[in-house]
Amino acid sequence: MRIAIKIASYAILLLSVVFTMNVRAQATVNDGVFTEAQATSGQAVYDAQCKTCHNMRFYRDTLRSWNNQPLLYLWESIMGTMPADNPGSLMFEEYTNVIAYILQEQGFPSGDSELDPDDGMENISIVSP
Ligand code: HEC
Repeated sequence: MRIAIKIASYAILLLSVVFTMNVRAQATVNDGVFTEAQATSGQAVYDAQCKTCHNMRFYRDTLRSWNNQPLLYLWESIMGTMPADNPGSLMFEEYTNVIAYILQEQGFPSGDSELDPDDGMENISIVSP
């Protein structure tokens, strides 16, 4: 009987560890994945570098078409192709902040952790706004 209880409690412990890891691995843009400060910095970059060619409606459609894909892929795509008249011309941090701003404008919440292309961004899924 005692052993059964021990086994059961180990099983519960194990399950909760697996569950926690799983939740982490499956974060979405709804989970507060950028900071307010990043979005604010991103707005300045956006106004100077992106606004002339795209309005916010465009990003809504873009995020829809990227539904379920890792946020890192969108970051890489934007970095490789945008601004269309000078691709790759911004700093990594500026691309990251622009994405934070775009997410905020689409109604996704900011949070405590910074968006960082070197840290877990492949595990954040885009969801349709
Ligand atoms: C000189 C004009 C121009 C500028 C400046 C520009 N873009 Fe673009 N962008 C385009 C064009 C053209 C396309 C491709 C055609 C389309 O999808 O409308 C595009 C496509 C995109 C896409 C869609 C990519 C995809 O794979 O779905 C995103 C996202 C995007 N741009 C973001 C940005 C961001 C962020 C900036 C600022 C850093 C920016 N663009 C600056 C012209 C521009």
